[in-house]
Amino acid sequence: MSVVVALVTGGNRGIGQAFVEELREQGAKVYAGSRDPAAVQTPGAIPVELDITDPAQVAAAAAHCTDVNLLVNNAGIFLNRRLVQTDDPDTGRAEMEVNYFGTLNMTRAFAPVLGANGGGQIINVLSVAGIVPTAFMGGYSPAKAATLFLSGITRAELEPQGTKVTALIVGSVETRMSDHVDGRKEDPRDIARTGLKAAAKGEWTFDTDWMAVDARARLARDPVRYERSLGRLVHKTTLRTGRD
Ligand SMILES: NC(=O)c1ccc[n+]([C@@H]2O[C@H](COP(=O)([O-])OP(=O)(O)OC[C@H]3O[C@@H](n4cnc5c(N)ncnc54)[C@H](OP(=O)(O)O)[C@@H]3O)[C@@H](O)[C@H]2O)c1
Repeated sequence: MSVVVALVTGGNRGIGQAFVEELREQGAKVYAGSRDPAAVQTPGAIPVELDITDPAQVAAAAAHCTDVNLLVNNAGIFLNRRLVQTDDPDTGRAEMEVNYFGTLNMTRAFAPVLGANGGGQIINVLSVAGIVPTAFMGGYSPAKAATLFLSGITRAELEPQGTKVTALIVGSVETRMSDHVDGRKEDPRDIARTGLKAAAKGEWTFDTDWMAVDARARLARDPVRYERSLGRLVHKTTLRTGRD
């Protein structure tokens, strides 16, 4: 790919903003998608009003940003609820709506744009919770798992037009989404830099940080033990269960 023209969803804060900054620093033209365009802070980035669950806004973005050759599907939500034992079942649906269907909306809308620009690339920002059932991340974990499969299916479908797809498996990162999390958290810029390098190498699925690599190793060593240990955490966390 010669000149990078990127669109980053959720480009106004967190990991999305880090992608916008990193891409700008590398000389790319960058559209920063945001539900509130005024919230986009990166100098030189082009704000685009974009709620990825809104079909009209997604279509308008694809019609406006016709030179995009890199789509970074970053926008996501984590609502910190149980999936089964809950009196708030809509949260699981909302997490699927944004993390999975929102990414699917963007992928469908931008596939022709990428095709017209030589194939291009898609980066999907996923999670360790998408490679192992993570009970304390109730609806989020299945949504990220579904989006990992979406990444593979997109790669296969768009292969004839030359579109490459990289799924990033991300651990814990210092953003608003992980405000409630203790322990080691990565710098969002490191995730963006690593993710862009992985995409440039044409990686299909890439573990971006220590937690992701560690999770992959635990899964390989003893998947049942690992899943069980994560399962036990649901009873220790401060989740709002809807039962208290
Ligand atoms: N932080 C972590 O530890 C971590 C770990 C693994 C994976 N991830 C993934 O990394 C990605 C970015 O998360 P983050 O940590 O940077 O979280 P964040 O700081 O909470 O940022 C989330 C971004 O997504 C946007 N967004 C939410 N719903 C949207 C919608 N319907 N349409 C468009 N934009 C929407 C938000 O916009 P508003 O400002 O308008 O709300 C915000 O820009 C997510 O996909 C997340 O699942 C994060």
